[in-house]
This record gives sequence, C-alpha cells and structure tokens, in this order.
Amino acid sequence: MGIRYQITCAVVVFVVVVAEILELCICANSSTTLHSPCLERERQALVKFKASLNDPSNLLSSWHGDDCCRWKGIGCDNVTGHVVMLDLTPPYLKCWRSMSDDYDCDLLDYQYLEATNVNSSLLELEYLTHLDLTGNTFYGSHIPMFIGSMQRLRYLSLSDAGFGGRIPSNLGNLTNLHFLDLSGNGFSPDSNINWISQLPLLEHLDMSYAYDTFQVNIINLTITAPKLQFLSLAANGLSVSNLDALQNMTSLVHLDLGGNNITSIPCWFGNFKKLEYLCLSERGLHGPIPNAFQNATFIEFLDLSENNFDSFPFWFHKFEKLKLLFLSSNNFQDTIPDALQNMTSIESLDLSSNSFTSVPSCGSLPGHIGHIMPNLVNLRLGNNLINGSIPNSLCQNDQLEILDLSNNRLFGEIPNCWKDNQKWEEINLSFNELSGFMKGTLGGCGFNG
Ligand SMILES: *[C@@H]1O[C@H](CO)[C@@H](O)[C@H](O)[C@H]1NC(C)=O
Ligand SMILES: *[C@@H]1O[C@H](CO)[C@@H](O)[C@H](O)[C@H]1NC(C)=O
Ligand SMILES: *[C@@H]1O[C@H](CO)[C@@H](O)[C@H](O)[C@H]1NC(C)=O
Ligand SMILES: *[C@@H]1O[C@H](CO)[C@@H](O)[C@H](O)[C@H]1NC(C)=O
Ligand SMILES: *[C@@H]1O[C@H](CO)[C@@H](O)[C@H](O)[C@H]1NC(C)=O
Ligand SMILES: *[C@@H]1O[C@H](CO)[C@@H](O)[C@H](O)[C@H]1NC(C)=O
Ligand SMILES: *[C@@H]1O[C@H](CO)[C@@H](O)[C@H](O)[C@H]1NC(C)=O
Ligand SMILES: *[C@@H]1O[C@H](CO)[C@@H](O)[C@H](O)[C@H]1NC(C)=O
Ligand SMILES: *[C@@H]1O[C@H](CO)[C@@H](O)[C@H](O)[C@H]1NC(C)=O
Ligand SMILES: *[C@@H]1O[C@H](CO)[C@@H](O)[C@H](O)[C@H]1NC(C)=O
Ligand SMILES: *[C@@H]1O[C@H](CO)[C@@H](O)[C@H](O)[C@H]1NC(C)=O
Repeated sequence: MGIRYQITCAVVVFVVVVAEILELCICANSSTTLHSPCLERERQALVKFKASLNDPSNLLSSWHGDDCCRWKGIGCDNVTGHVVMLDLTPPYLKCWRSMSDDYDCDLLDYQYLEATNVNSSLLELEYLTHLDLTGNTFYGSHIPMFIGSMQRLRYLSLSDAGFGGRIPSNLGNLTNLHFLDLSGNGFSPDSNINWISQLPLLEHLDMSYAYDTFQVNIINLTITAPKLQFLSLAANGLSVSNLDALQNMTSLVHLDLGGNNITSIPCWFGNFKKLEYLCLSERGLHGPIPNAFQNATFIEFLDLSENNFDSFPFWFHKFEKLKLLFLSSNNFQDTIPDALQNMTSIESLDLSSNSFTSVPSCGSLPGHIGHIMPNLVNLRLGNNLINGSIPNSLCQNDQLEILDLSNNRLFGEIPNCWKDNQKWEEINLSFNELSGFMKGTLGGCGFNG
C-alpha cells in the first residue's frame, strides 16, 4: 500500500508540473523562445532612434510591429522583457567577424546606417547592457555625454563609426564595462583617457587607430583591470615611457602595440606568460629578439616586422605553438635559424626583406621544409640573398597558397611536382636564375608560369 501510495503521489506531482509548464508556454505565446513581449516605452524609444537614422539600404526593415524584442539587432531580457542589447553592426562586418576561411563576405554590400549624432532616445533603454554601433557612420560627431550615464553597460563598441572630438571622460562612470572598443575613429589626440583606470572589470580594450593624428605622445594610460585579456593600442604613436602602465597586466592574451614609437622592450614583458598574440611591428626595436619574450610559450601569432632586429635567441624553439610568424623588413642575416625547424605548427612564415643567405643544413631552399612545416599555407622569403635551388620537397605542402621567393639568388629548375589542382593565390619567383614551369591553378584560371 505504502509503495502504491507513493507512486500515485508522484504521478499527481508530475501532472501538476506539466500543467504549469503548459500554462507558462501559453502565456509566453512563443513556439521557440520564451520571452515577455516588448515594453511599449522602450519600443517608442527604438522607433525614435530609428527615425534619427538614415537607412538607405533598409537594414532596419524588421523594425515594425509591436514586439520590438523580435526586431533585428535587439535583444530582450527573457523574464522582464526589457531591451538589454542593441547591436547595429552591419551584416558585412558581422560576416567578417565570424569569418571562416571559405565564407565570402564580399558578396554582401557595404551597407550601413548614418546619422549626424547618436540620438538621446537611447537613454530610455535603461536596462541596456550591450551597445554596439560598430561600422555605422556618425559623421565626426562627439560621443554624447549621456553614454557615460548608461551605467548598466557591460559591452560598448563604437568602433569604425566616424566619431571625432574629445572622448568624454565620464565613460569612466561605466564601471560595469567588460568590453570597450573605440578603435578606428578620429578622436582628437588631447583626449584625456585616464578614466580607463576607473574600469576594473575590463577584459577587452581596443583603442587602436583611435585618433585623428598619428602622434599621440601625450597619451596617459593607467589600467587597473586585473582580468584584461585583450589590449590593442596599435597605431597611436605612443612613446615607450607610457608602457609602464602595462606591467601588471599578467592576464593578457592578446597584445597589439604595432605602429607605435617603442624603442626598447622592458624586462617586465617576462610577466606576460599567457600571451597568444603579440604584435610589435613598425618602429624602433633593434638587436636580438628580446629574452623578455621567452616566458610567452603559448604564443601563436608573432609580428615583429619592420623593426631592426638582427638575431634569434637560442630559446626561440620554445615557441612551438607558433602559427603565424612575421619578421619581414628587419636586419636578419646569414642562415635562417635552425630553431624554425621545430616549428611544425607554422601556417604562415614571412621572412622577406632581410639578408638571409641560406637555409639550415641542406643549403638548398628550403631544404626539407615540406616535411618540417606540413601546415604551411603562406611562405614569403622574397628580397633576401638566398643562394641555392628550390627542392622538390616543397611540393609536399599541397595546401601552399602563397609562395614568394622573388629577388633572391636561386638557380636551377623550378620543381614540377606540384599537384595539378594546387590552388595558388600568389606565386612570385621573379628576379632569380630559375627555369621551368609551375603547375596548378591561379585565381581560378589554369596557368603555366
Ligand atoms: C502568438 O504570437 C504570434 C505573433 O508573434 C501570433 O501570430 C500568434 O497568433 C499568437 N498565438 C496565440 C495563440 O496567441
Ligand atoms: C532624436 O530623434 C528624433 C527623431 O528623429 C528627433 O525628433 C529628435 O530631435 C532627436 N533628438 C536629438 C537630441 O537629436
Ligand atoms: C533566459 O536568459 C538566461 C540568461 O540569458 C538564460 O540562462 C535562460 O536559459 C533563459 N531562459 C529561457 C527560458 O530562455
Ligand atoms: C560621472 O563622471 C563625471 C566626470 O568624470 C563625474 O563628475 C560624475 O560625478 C560621475 N557621475 C556618477 C554618477 O558617477
Ligand atoms: C599623466 O599622468 C601624470 C601622473 O599621473 C600626471 O601628472 C599628468 O598630468 C598626466 N598627463 C596628462 C596629459 O593627463
Ligand atoms: C604593479 O604591482 C605592484 C605590486 O602589486 C605595485 O607596487 C605597482 O605599483 C604596480 N604597478 C603599476 C604600474 O600598476
Ligand atoms: C620616438 O620617441 C623618441 C623618444 O622616446 C623620440 O626621440 C623620437 O623622436 C620619436 N620618434 C618618432 C618618429 O616619433
Ligand atoms: C619568466 O618567469 C619566471 C617565473 O615567474 C621569472 O622568474 C623570470 O624572470 C621570467 N623570465 C623573464 C625572461 O622575464
Ligand atoms: C628543438 O626542440 C628541442 C626540445 O624541444 C631542443 O632541444 C632543440 O634544441 C630544438 N632544436 C632546434 C634546432 O632549435
Ligand atoms: C652560391 O653557392 C654556390 C655553392 O654553394 C657557390 O659556389 C656560389 O659562389 C654562391 N653564389 C653566390 C652568388 O653567393
Ligand atoms: C614579385 O617580386 C618582385 C621583387 O620582389 C616585385 O618587384 C614584384 O612586384 C612582385 N610581383 C608581384 C606580382 O607581386
């Protein structure tokens, strides 16, 4: 009896639960997602915002009807129905962001929204946590002061949106920000950005190409966010004294300081043990590749091109996860270092415009590179002094798409062992003493070159 009673009870409970779920579904009236409908006040604010935009390509055609939560680019809290996300990134940029190799974003038109300012109707979206206006154009207008009062924002991207003037300091009031991207605008270089130090939760900060002139030597940066993983200050003309602000940023995974006036690498770079991406291209650095990098053993992307580096350290083989290595336009000489022979994961190798004379061990170019770097897609060794022949082993890289060996001292026959269907994007063997033909497909047309 006891057992039977328990079973009955369980069935009753089950029925009640099912009834509750059904009721919930009927209330929500939604076949796929459960959410409350849009709030009228917020719908009105969005209608007003839409009216302030010029939308020549009709990107906001879905913005009609009562339930603004279903409009393109809008996200609502699924319990309260408040608008929490406004993402107006144009479709072609979204495509680029999510680009997998084969995806052809160029098929999408470069369509975007235009406005002479950011309309203050956004202020009525009190619960907004995610605001993304990337890639639209605001014709040199200032970032409005009211953005600094949208205290719930966790994600703010205003990149490539044609903003100008001074960056308002009250962005430092947005203490919940995890993600901030102001890159690709034309801000005036006297913008005070000390307020960044008031954002302790930042994980992603992109200020690359942010100013309307290259020289931003007065920039004063302090970052206190212990969880910062992504930092790009590329192309701002910073000078080295300002880098001290970075010395405690041990959680950095992505660091891009390319295109700045940096003349030496501080020893505290050894603190950056989690780096996977490091760009220090263009300007100022010379001597051996610094020992301070050697703790960054997770590095996958290293760009030191357009400096005056002249030698590889003995520990370079520790970078065994490297996929992309760009060292063009430096002062490297003699033999391409043995260390590269351990780098089996390399996909892209650019050593062009140096003074390399030969390739390790084998003398001929690039030795048994076909065995050593089976993942190579892009090989650029042009503008060096490499003396030798091209070995057949290179044909084993059947995914090779770019081969630039131009302007060296290569001689002999061009190997004729590539697959007929090898898909070449670029081949340049000019300015050598080579003879013969190459097999493959270039830009969709068959060729013999
Ligand atoms: C549910 O909402 C959709 C529109 O969002 C409407 O077409 C449909 O008739 C509604 N169903 C019920 C049962 O109210
Ligand atoms: C915001 O946009 C609405 C609709 O276009 C317009 O009437 C209003 O003047 C704009 N407000 C500001 C401050 O530009
Ligand atoms: C509501 O949103 C939260 C957080 O975004 C999510 O974890 C949860 O699964 C959602 N609930 C429903 C019923 O969709
Ligand atoms: C916002 O920032 C401004 C300028 O930095 C400051 O004067 C003001 O007190 C801040 N407001 C709040 C609510 O924190
Ligand atoms: C930069 O910071 C220093 C020290 O905090 C301060 O003395 C100086 O005035 C700041 N410069 C600018 C341009 O903000
Ligand atoms: C880095 O951290 C140390 C120890 O916590 C501290 O003394 C120093 O002021 C910090 N430096 C910067 C630039 O934040
Ligand atoms: C780079 O900075 C140094 C001082 O750190 C300065 O002497 C030099 O003129 C700067 N170069 C450029 C191109 O700005
Ligand atoms: C690498 O990290 C270790 C341990 O934290 C540290 O002692 C060493 O100085 C670092 N190496 C460099 C070159 O900075
Ligand atoms: C390859 O790596 C091993 C250890 O992983 C190291 O001992 C060796 O010296 C490296 N070879 C070269 C050519 O750097
Ligand atoms: C190229 O290498 C060969 C054999 O290693 C040598 O005889 C020749 O002089 C070299 N040519 C140049 C231009 O360095
Ligand atoms: C091939 O290389 C030469 C020498 O480096 C260069 O001048 C030329 O522009 C390159 N050709 C192409 C099509 O890139």
